[in-house]
Amino acid sequence: MNLVLLSASLQKKHYHELISSISPHLFIFTAVIFLWHLNPTTAATCHPDDEVGLLAFKSGITEDPSGILSSWKKGTYCCSWDGVSCPNGNRVAVLTVRIESNDAGSFLSGTISPSLAKLRHLEGIVFINLKNITGPFPQFLFRLPHLMYVYLENNRLSGPLRANIGTLSHLDTLTIKGNQFSGPIRSSISNLTRLNYLNLGGNLLTGTIPLGIANLKLMSNLNLDGNRLSGTIPDIFKSMTMLRILTLSRNGFSGKLPPSMASLAPVLAFLELGQNNLSGSIPSYLSRFKALDTLDLSKNRFSGAVPKSLPMLTKIANIDLSHNLLTDPFPVLNVKNDILTLDLSYNKFHMGTIPEWVTSATILSSLKLAKCGIKMSIDHWKTRQTDLYVSIDLSENEISGSPVRFLKEEGQLREFRVSGNKLRFDLRKLTFSKTLETLHLSRNLVFGKVPARVAGLKTLNLSQNHLCGKLPSMKFPASVFTGNDCLCGSPLGPCKV
Ligand SMILES: *[C@@H]1O[C@H](CO)[C@@H](O)[C@H](O)[C@H]1NC(C)=O
Ligand SMILES: *[C@@H]1O[C@H](CO)[C@@H](O)[C@H](O)[C@H]1NC(C)=O
Ligand SMILES: *[C@@H]1O[C@H](CO)[C@@H](O)[C@H](O)[C@H]1NC(C)=O
Ligand SMILES: *[C@@H]1O[C@H](CO)[C@@H](O)[C@H](O)[C@H]1NC(C)=O
Repeated sequence: MNLVLLSASLQKKHYHELISSISPHLFIFTAVIFLWHLNPTTAATCHPDDEVGLLAFKSGITEDPSGILSSWKKGTYCCSWDGVSCPNGNRVAVLTVRIESNDAGSFLSGTISPSLAKLRHLEGIVFINLKNITGPFPQFLFRLPHLMYVYLENNRLSGPLRANIGTLSHLDTLTIKGNQFSGPIRSSISNLTRLNYLNLGGNLLTGTIPLGIANLKLMSNLNLDGNRLSGTIPDIFKSMTMLRILTLSRNGFSGKLPPSMASLAPVLAFLELGQNNLSGSIPSYLSRFKALDTLDLSKNRFSGAVPKSLPMLTKIANIDLSHNLLTDPFPVLNVKNDILTLDLSYNKFHMGTIPEWVTSATILSSLKLAKCGIKMSIDHWKTRQTDLYVSIDLSENEISGSPVRFLKEEGQLREFRVSGNKLRFDLRKLTFSKTLETLHLSRNLVFGKVPARVAGLKTLNLSQNHLCGKLPSMKFPASVFTGNDCLCGSPLGPCKV
């Protein structure tokens, strides 16, 4: 039961975010600040350059609705201002301005003052989730000789990355995700040889991945997700033996996976290449990825059969191969791990039945086998354990029978999508858990009346069935009821009396 709840709350993306957002720096400096507060020096003063620089930053902020900078007051000890820390004396080493809330009423507006260059001892700069800070890639970063980490995430910075970005050579972390930076990834980035975390995700970057990235041998997390990058994924991985997370999803990469990716086998845990235009077969070297937790190759043009050796991925917890051109047979996986989300939808599989290894997986929370050529009766699907699933998508198969028993047993289910099958049952008999939000039953053979209990769902689709009778009062549009035998009442036409 606990595992099921865990799997519900740790859906794939969240798990990944959790892993990648834990920054060692933030931990260390929180600890340092804590220690410093235990031993405050009386009548401390901070360096005048630091005070001037910080106050200039504050005056560049035009709106601070949640008052995150309200403790920054001229003449007070600047090392005690919120987000400012001076672990080595009276010089500011770390500046952290971070908004936790996603509520539009707390966004910071304005620009980043170049006077921050006065903070000569700055080692780390963290501006996260400020949302409405505009301006170019900050030039003052180049004037800070001790800078080791830069987090400029989810702001609204724009324009090209600087050609001399490679001169920030002390950096071990550079993340500028969630801005509007455009233009190419500068080739000088290959000079940032101390980098272990590079995140350029969620920007408007174009062009190809510079080959020089191969020099970044300490890299453990490389994320270029959600840009407009193109070309093939270059053969750059031979020396990246520490890479744990590789995320190149949502770009325009094409061609085959490069052979050097095989060198990532000992440590790579997350491989996310979804929503590109990659092709060729899934390389058999993938089965040597002993640490792999998440494999997302969805929405590409991968073809041929999945390697027979895939079951050797003993740590795998999330597999998404959906929307490719993969063919039978799919190997039997040995799924005995923590959490498993499985999506094999929209390929060229003819599975016939829901495979036995899927049914017997004991901690699978999201199962998506849409258009997998499944022809069984759902009454013959006896899951080993109930209360297992959070999300089910078996759309566009030839599944017959009645899901009434299944839905009655699954107390954690949020999503049940089975449109485009041959399910035949009386909708009045359908009961489901309070957790259910999405019920898609369109294009089946469902009959009977629409019961009032579906009114509480978030999304519903009952179109193209054999339902009849007066609709209970609900918020759904007419399109979710069209194509039935004799439904009537709002939002459809009035019932004949
Ligand atoms: C963002 O900043 C602009 C000015 O730079 C301001 O007009 C706008 O109201 C701000 N938006 C939010 C949501 O704070
Ligand atoms: C890397 O740095 C060296 C020395 O500063 C410089 O000569 C070289 O041009 C830089 N490489 C790139 C690709 O910018
Ligand atoms: C994807 O690649 C194919 C060739 O393999 C090409 O014809 C097609 O235009 C590409 N699609 C996109 C969206 O780039
Ligand atoms: C409901 O399903 C039908 C048939 O699959 C589809 O055409 C329609 O767009 C769907 N409506 C909604 C609101 O999802």
